[in-house]
Amino acid sequence: MKKIAVAIDGPAAAGKSTVAKQVAEIKGYTYIDTGAMYRAFTLYCLNKGVDCQDHDACVKLIPEVNIELKPGHLVFLNGEDVSREIRLPNVSGNVSYIASYKEIRLALVELQRKMAETSSVIMDGRDIGTYVLPNADVKIFQIASVETRAIRRYDENISKGIPCTLEEIEEDVRKRDYIDSHRDFAPLKPAADSVLLDTSYLNVEQVVEKVIEIIDAKLAEEKDA
Ligand code: CDP
Repeated sequence: MKKIAVAIDGPAAAGKSTVAKQVAEIKGYTYIDTGAMYRAFTLYCLNKGVDCQDHDACVKLIPEVNIELKPGHLVFLNGEDVSREIRLPNVSGNVSYIASYKEIRLALVELQRKMAETSSVIMDGRDIGTYVLPNADVKIFQIASVETRAIRRYDENISKGIPCTLEEIEEDVRKRDYIDSHRDFAPLKPAADSVLLDTSYLNVEQVVEKVIEIIDAKLAEEKDA
């Protein structure tokens, strides 16, 4: 069977990972959460007491960092399960600085591309369709209004026991969107051949359904070509 690659990009807290996980399960693809990798690197810098806005100091840490994504959506940093810690507000507040450093991106993109070599994947992030997997079979750019995204992330954090306020979350989402879309290297933007999916008025089930429709339509097109 042909190996499939699906890229889902979009701004912060658009619900990409929730949807991608479910689609992966239904279609039998491997889900790759690239944001978790930038978050794990950020956590390492914070634990080391390194200022995430200090490019040189952060880049120096590349050889010390080993990040693995394991079954069950677990994220390991140098052999330790950090799946929960990487979602904490301090990591969210610093991750976009780390993700703007080209050297760190190159190191993580190499891992991401390797993961996509061996099986069908659905990968979510900011630059998957434009940079990481430019030949992906299906590219989706998932958006929603800032207010909707902030409420979604607030509800998610509260359900996971991560303390926050809606105001803080909205500010974090706006700040990350700005940094992510204004960086020089591989910024957040829709790939020219992506399908725009506005999820502002859709629930998770409806978005999953839409994504599967888009995938099936694209794959049928490829078959006919
Ligand atoms: O889940 P959420 O939308 O909050 O973010 P995430 O996917 O966990 O990504 C966290 C941060 O990592 C983003 O705000 C970006 O700064 C960065 N990122 C990136 O630059 N490129 C990617 N492919 C994925 C994430």
